[in-house]
Amino acid sequence: MTGMAQNPLSTATPRLHPRQARTLVEIARKITGVAVSTDKISFLELRVSRRLRELGCADYDSYIAKLHGPDGMAEARYLAEALTTHTTSFFREKVHYDWLAREGLPNLAEAGAGTGYKLTIWSAACSLGSEMWTAAMVLDQFSQTRKGGLSWGVVGTDVSRQILRQAATAVFTEDQVTGIPAELRRSYLMRSRGEPRLYRIVPELRSRAQLAWANLVDLDRTLKLTADVAFLRNVLIYFQPEDQRRAVANVVSRLRDGGYLLTGHSESLADPPANLRQVAASTYQKV
Ligand SMILES: C[S@@+](CC[C@H](N)C(=O)[O-])C[C@H]1O[C@@H](n2cnc3c(N)ncnc32)[C@H](O)[C@@H]1O
Repeated sequence: MTGMAQNPLSTATPRLHPRQARTLVEIARKITGVAVSTDKISFLELRVSRRLRELGCADYDSYIAKLHGPDGMAEARYLAEALTTHTTSFFREKVHYDWLAREGLPNLAEAGAGTGYKLTIWSAACSLGSEMWTAAMVLDQFSQTRKGGLSWGVVGTDVSRQILRQAATAVFTEDQVTGIPAELRRSYLMRSRGEPRLYRIVPELRSRAQLAWANLVDLDRTLKLTADVAFLRNVLIYFQPEDQRRAVANVVSRLRDGGYLLTGHSESLADPPANLRQVAASTYQKV
């Protein structure tokens, strides 16, 4: 030792090597299917470096050692959470909701959904729940047009426990509810008095909704669900082709015959399963 001043680089944020990036991405992929490109070094650093600091890891190798250590599984789940993207909004890709109100729901009701059995809409990667609540609003409006109303419910599932906890509050900020038309806001949102102004979904919709944890690429039997409509939107893009196929097959297996699968408009199925026929853009029917 020469008694030199400390190397300033030793306190800098550690850099992620492509080899380490591959390891992190593979560990997260095994848990959620989410396949972050290993080229996205700065994205990975951004999402994971905070965790390194929290755990007091000096570099990514020591973090990877933790992932392989005794509490590795819990840490891997944490990593997977850090790498998932939760962007969502009410009435996102509105054409799907318009199509449901115009064609999908009338067809399902004709076939007995909502009278012979409960009509169920599933938001299969629900994030904060905006998609599930939008479907609930559309479904409630449709139900009111039918004599005697319909029996219906909505289900939201996600792999992120963190986002599900937030979704369970059914509370949204002013910015988050801007996509909801004014008349629907009046019917389905309660407004807080104080500042910042917050909005909560009304109890009449909340009582018809269920949230549950589910991993779409590894859907186990604990998810008991038969859906008439499944939203599988803006999640397949994060999967590799093999995991995409698995997720689609898993969701379709929980769909009633004649039910509809809705995918994101940027993620139409290249290779749909044989029991799906396309009926509109990014809209498939189980046959
Ligand atoms: C970009 S958001 C899409 C939300 C909503 N479907 C929409 O289109 O607005 C993607 C969501 O998929 C969830 N997710 C990622 N991998 C998943 C998996 N394997 N199983 C279930 N959900 C997953 C993420 O946690 C995130 O909340």
